[in-house]
Amino acid sequence: MATTATAIIDLDVPGATISRHVYGHFAEHLGRCIYGGFWVGEDSPIPNVRGIRSDVVAALRALQIPNLRWPGGCFADDYHWRDGIGPRDQRPRMVNSHWGDVVEDNAFGTHEFMDLCELLDAAPYVSGNVGSGTVQEMSEWVEYLTRADDSPMAALRRANGRDEPWRVPFWGLGNEAWGCGGNLRVEQFASLARQYATYSRNHGGNELYRVAAGASDADLHWTETLMRSFDDLAADPAEPPRPFQAVSLHYYTMTGTWGDKGDATEFSTDEWYTAMARAHRMDELLTRHSTVMDRYDPHRKVGLVVDEWGTWWNVAKGTNPGFLYQQNTLRDALVASVHFDAFHRHAERVVMANIAQTVNVLQAMILTDPDSGALVLTPTYHVFAMNAGHHDASALAVHLRDVDTRTVEGAELPLVSASASVKGDSALVSLSNLDVDTDRTIVLDLRGRDVVGYEVRVLTAPALDAHNTPERLDAVAPTAHDGVRSHPRGFELDLPAHSYVTVSLDLR
Ligand code: AHR
Repeated sequence: MATTATAIIDLDVPGATISRHVYGHFAEHLGRCIYGGFWVGEDSPIPNVRGIRSDVVAALRALQIPNLRWPGGCFADDYHWRDGIGPRDQRPRMVNSHWGDVVEDNAFGTHEFMDLCELLDAAPYVSGNVGSGTVQEMSEWVEYLTRADDSPMAALRRANGRDEPWRVPFWGLGNEAWGCGGNLRVEQFASLARQYATYSRNHGGNELYRVAAGASDADLHWTETLMRSFDDLAADPAEPPRPFQAVSLHYYTMTGTWGDKGDATEFSTDEWYTAMARAHRMDELLTRHSTVMDRYDPHRKVGLVVDEWGTWWNVAKGTNPGFLYQQNTLRDALVASVHFDAFHRHAERVVMANIAQTVNVLQAMILTDPDSGALVLTPTYHVFAMNAGHHDASALAVHLRDVDTRTVEGAELPLVSASASVKGDSALVSLSNLDVDTDRTIVLDLRGRDVVGYEVRVLTAPALDAHNTPERLDAVAPTAHDGVRSHPRGFELDLPAHSYVTVSLDLR
């Protein structure tokens, strides 16, 4: 029998700002993410603007997508940007050896990506090639993108049809350097990151926020070594000059092992809870990596960028194993909501995060049918939409009391996850009931400000594996929630089993 939980929230004690960039996305040259997902080409019967799918752009604009990471992933360390500029029919081909061993024709390159970002009104996050590229190549890519005058690279960009430089705020230095990005030792990579960062220059008013390829999971040694690599550059310990401004972290949720990750739709109740417990682990990982970073950067000037996260299941049956196409259920939605609670709690350190990946790959927002072209919004998409109020809001501490737990993989998993934020006269509370069977009641004990209006929405479905298809676009979609009553301390709220609920508050 479930107890009534309580969430105490001091609405008048705002904490760190939740950067909207933790709601960022990732698009790699992988399977049908770029080709078929974003890019259909100008001659496609699918409505497009200069080759870019209009329906995908509209769906992502509705999420207020803040940034997009490209071109990888592992692909980034194989990518040579000069192959992706100039007339499309003259671009060299290459083998995409990481993802399906297919031939890449470079139809989607720098200009197409920057056009996509402009259509999306999203900030570009370009991942530079450290693994197989040269320092000069990276330096010239930055110059090509961001320089205004008649420098050689700016002139080349103009010759390819773009007069004005673009603004590129985020710059990645390699990817998974411990693995597909070169199988480097961290000491070796730390030196390379300093070197590549040095030659990734700020041109004109464009200031790069450089992100060095970071650790996977709980590899604290990687984070520690990158942080320590600044040490000899520090003049004033409070303001050390840094060649890069952030380090990254990658963490994927699965219920099995890398060899057999678990199925996206056919899973047991135990696997549901395993997925929730492993998603919940993100909070612990952020605490541990942040603690290491605090040692070298107590004022939290260096960012932690979780630029790959999300569920990774076995590929859908009958699809190319190298294309990482998977279905997306209500379970994926709650994995996402649990991650966002962790990102909000760590807002002081976590400056950006990018779910992997936006369209047709891993935990996607959007799936497109390869034959009909039909577009499906996934349950995960709806969590991003319901959480838009957290963008650039101030995190609020949520003190949870009397939350039931369940033992999963030897640790206690709280069955309610929550976070909250405030922005001016609005607040947003996010609540996930991770319990498969039990409806719960929670008292929102709201202190410090008067609530003058509210709206409650719920995302759930009868089955744990519910998902959206072209035939049933809204099998999992948010609806208005009427399970809310006033309470002497605020509200009493019904949290249906396996549901995600948001409460938007108007404050005075
Ligand atoms: O997102 C898929 C792959 O996962 C990325 O290319 C790589 O960085 C990670 O291993």
